[in-house]
Amino acid sequence: MWLTLRTVCLRSQTICRGRFAAALLKCTRHSHANVSHFSHSAGRSARSCKALVYRNYGDPARVIKLEDLVLPSIGAKDVLVKVLAAPINPSDINMIQGTYAILPDLPAVGGNEGVAQVIEVGSQVKSLKTGDWVIPRDAGLGTWRTEAVLAEDDVISLPNDVPLLSAATLGVNPCTAYRMLCDFEDLKPGDSVIQNAANSGVGQAVIQIAAARGINTINVIRDRPEFTQLSDRLKSIGASHVIKEEALRRPEIKELFKTLSRPKLALNGVGGKSATELLRHLQIGGSMVTYGGMSKQPVTVPVSALIFKDVKVRGFWVTQWKRDHSRDGRAFRAMLDELCTLIQQGRLTAPACTEVGLQDCLKALDTSMQPFTSTKQVIIM
Ligand SMILES: NC(=O)c1ccc[n+]([C@@H]2O[C@H](COP(=O)([O-])OP(=O)(O)OC[C@H]3O[C@@H](n4cnc5c(N)ncnc54)[C@H](OP(=O)(O)O)[C@@H]3O)[C@@H](O)[C@H]2O)c1
Repeated sequence: MWLTLRTVCLRSQTICRGRFAAALLKCTRHSHANVSHFSHSAGRSARSCKALVYRNYGDPARVIKLEDLVLPSIGAKDVLVKVLAAPINPSDINMIQGTYAILPDLPAVGGNEGVAQVIEVGSQVKSLKTGDWVIPRDAGLGTWRTEAVLAEDDVISLPNDVPLLSAATLGVNPCTAYRMLCDFEDLKPGDSVIQNAANSGVGQAVIQIAAARGINTINVIRDRPEFTQLSDRLKSIGASHVIKEEALRRPEIKELFKTLSRPKLALNGVGGKSATELLRHLQIGGSMVTYGGMSKQPVTVPVSALIFKDVKVRGFWVTQWKRDHSRDGRAFRAMLDELCTLIQQGRLTAPACTEVGLQDCLKALDTSMQPFTSTKQVIIM
């Protein structure tokens, strides 16, 4: 089956009516991203690529298929890129399941993140040259494919001396961690942050960026047979303390705060009871920022936390941040530069990753949805 690559219209779910206009705008901006039109008559000479395509929303293992796509010709403001590596993130899974806040028109190519190398540029391209490494500027690009023709503005360059896995996993989780550490509380060296899902991609970036700034992290993970190994691994990348979910509820936790300031900031990627426990340990006036809901349970805020501690309960979505800052790209550029400097200094490493080939992606999709894996599946093209 041959498909031609044309447009993506990211459409919001009904819960997100306000984003519909922004989503429509993307149809024109992401002129070549993702897939929406089929062609059965493409000539044999047309350039093609392999891609992981879905035509219906549903269980990723059932709806994702490896297919050949015909690439469009390269316009004056386009670039042809070879995708090098792309991770499988929870939001990619939710998009395929049809449960995410933004959804592509179908058929679509999976994947929102990854690193690619520019192999050809259109005649009017100014900001990129052959050989540059690039990552998507926004969600919805469909990165699980070997090649793509993209608008110059769809991507932003990275230094190409950054390790491959760091580059492939930079645009979503480290950016989320960075923004949450910068934008909600004025954190100073010696301050503390508490987070759950500390072994997640976001969590590992939080640990490292905080450590580089002298900020202590209290890292909560679920218990497992290999708790000690995981705890040691998180400490080796800079975690100040690693504790089990259950320990958060025990009186002994008070001992911790004899030597450590109470957290100004709590980062919640889980929801449910785990989030409520984080809130209990916040200092007066502190903030809890919810960025994920891995337990699929709502966040319950104890009345006492609001009345007696005046905690702030906030949320963060990196896609919205990128869209809010898309007109003036300087804030995104500055953040990527700072993160790449940390990578080059060895202070920000990629999360633990398992590299998989395109052919093995169905198994990798399944693995990515299993609990207690503690490793990010990354497709190497
Ligand atoms: N808002 C944003 O802008 C933004 C940006 C990036 C990511 N996210 C969200 O952040 C979350 C983490 O993403 P990621 O890429 O860092 O994930 P990841 O590397 O795939 O790790 C998943 C994490 O979720 C935990 N987890 C899975 N099921 C759980 C459950 N039922 N209860 C408690 N913990 C559970 C895992 O812990 P175990 O090892 O114990 O299974 C692991 O720590 C996702 O919800 C993602 O959509 C949001």
